[in-house]
Amino acid sequence: MDTWIRDLPKAELHIHIEGSLEPELMFAIAQRNQIALPYPSAVAVRDAYQFSNLQSFLDIYYAGAGVLLHEQDFYDMTWAYLERCAAQNIRHTEIFFDPQTHTDRGVPFATVINGIYQALVDGKQLGVSSQLICSFLRHLSAESAMATLEQAMPFQDWLVGVGLDSSEMGHPPVKFQAVFDRARAEGFLTVAHAGEEGPPEYIWQALELLKVSRIDHGVRCLEDPKLVAYLAERQIPLTVCPLSNVKLCVFDDMATHNLKQLLAAGLCVTVNSDDPAYFGGYLAENFQAIRDHLALTVTEMHQLSRNGFQAAFLSPEAKATLLAEVDRFMATAGRAIGNLS
Ligand code: ADE
Ligand code: ZN
Repeated sequence: MDTWIRDLPKAELHIHIEGSLEPELMFAIAQRNQIALPYPSAVAVRDAYQFSNLQSFLDIYYAGAGVLLHEQDFYDMTWAYLERCAAQNIRHTEIFFDPQTHTDRGVPFATVINGIYQALVDGKQLGVSSQLICSFLRHLSAESAMATLEQAMPFQDWLVGVGLDSSEMGHPPVKFQAVFDRARAEGFLTVAHAGEEGPPEYIWQALELLKVSRIDHGVRCLEDPKLVAYLAERQIPLTVCPLSNVKLCVFDDMATHNLKQLLAAGLCVTVNSDDPAYFGGYLAENFQAIRDHLALTVTEMHQLSRNGFQAAFLSPEAKATLLAEVDRFMATAGRAIGNLS
């Protein structure tokens, strides 16, 4: 890993906290909760991470989250991710969690959010600021999402917004229009996964019906020139996840990822890890992979880092401070390394 990529100030806007659960921690938590895993070791778990599409990943991902029972489990998982953030100079992170993955197993909403939130508060000591986004599972019903929104209401001060994730095909954003109407009326910002596997139509629905501030993934927008023009004109951010897209076979390999075309189209592209424990790397590894395989220039890398802070749910003052940090870093790194281009 290039040290300047590791040290570049970064913001992460698309990370599922359950997707940061590394096999070693999964095993440790399973042991203390006396849960049997269908694998003999952490190495065997990692070996099983071969996916052919989104659904083949989700089946394993939901099974892995089954070890999480107590507040301490959610705390430990979140803390481990924040330590990774500190090591990679991720200065700000906006974290999804999937309450229904846990409440459907009988784990109370409060247990989940208390554990995650306490780690986020403690994470400030590491120099990592954060926001939390409550994400609905789109393969479940709109009624279940509405019930989850109700459970989230007492914790609204801890949440910046709501999101939509899980199996995209066959579950268009329109299914959740009433839930998102209610969430916005209650003061939540909204985001949604769209255009990861699903068609551009799903991105239009997320924009027009769910009134999202950002599109999670969105890589299929390039199939619709009118949609690209709309996204570019309004600078609606896309939270793109390069290693995820390759692992889930959205692209054949990193060299054929369309991130560089998205940037060239004038879109506000951000780089993110999605589920780093499953996809082979955290945010810095994603930046490294696109630099190596897409021949991104230093100017493009600088832009991507800036876009992350620009697209964050932060105050104008906080953004300005962090953007100045990025610009200062690039001015210094450029001089020190000399041959960056
Ligand atoms: N949940 C966790 N990762 C996801 C992804 N890449 N797409 C949809 N839902 C998810
Ligand atoms: Zn995601």
